[in-house]
Amino acid sequence: MKHELIEKNIGLLAVLTAVAISFGGLVEIVPLMNDKNATTPTPGLPMRTPLEVAGRDVYIHEGCYNCHSQMIRTLAEEVLRYGPASQAGESVYDHPFQWGSKRTGPDLARIGGRYSDEWLRLHFINPRDVVPESNMPGYPWLEKEHFDPGEVSGEMRALKRVGVPFDDAVIAKADADVADKTKMDALIAFLQSLKLPHPPQADATPAAAPGAAAKTESTP
Ligand code: HEC
Repeated sequence: MKHELIEKNIGLLAVLTAVAISFGGLVEIVPLMNDKNATTPTPGLPMRTPLEVAGRDVYIHEGCYNCHSQMIRTLAEEVLRYGPASQAGESVYDHPFQWGSKRTGPDLARIGGRYSDEWLRLHFINPRDVVPESNMPGYPWLEKEHFDPGEVSGEMRALKRVGVPFDDAVIAKADADVADKTKMDALIAFLQSLKLPHPPQADATPAAAPGAAAKTESTP
């Protein structure tokens, strides 16, 4: 009976629908705002360099996310293929994050270190030179394009304003850092930075003996 009242009264139905949707939204969004996991860098995660930030811009500009995700789910087959599942804290330097969902090509969340810079360069110029069956487009022009003065520092300042924890000192020399680099260099630096932030447990340095501390600390 009450339900019939709502169904027959379009105004009431609209108001109650809006209330239901807002409630659903609040329940999903509000906890994330206070979730430290999503706003604190994963331990060991290095701050993105200006060149990597510039490379990420190229990645977005060229629409790489239309074919590649950057998020490894917790499913066994994903972890076996790509490596440990992605953590929210790995994406704190990404606004917007590049998780994506479309995988025409493989996930790239752990692509860093898998190939040499030279392999990636050849692959971007013409993917079929190194992967004959590839249907990924080539991006040869990235070798010739540079960044405008002020472009990368401006981008980093804007990202800082929306909460990305960049250092002012790094922003100050951002344009100088990318001045002699091509967009190809930047894209490659960005991809090589996409890797697990800390060494896997098996490789971790065993608890240092007393006196060995200084040595352990200086290990790169
Ligand atoms: C039309 C879809 C498409 C687009 C757009 C695309 N890719 Fe790909 N990509 C693929 C496919 C398919 C593969 C697998 C075949 C290969 O290795 O070439 C691939 C492979 C790769 C690989 C090697 C991954 C691995 O694990 O072997 C990298 C790195 C890569 N793409 C980066 C990029 C970047 C960066 C861009 C944007 C500049 C981009 N791709 C744009 C489809 C695409």
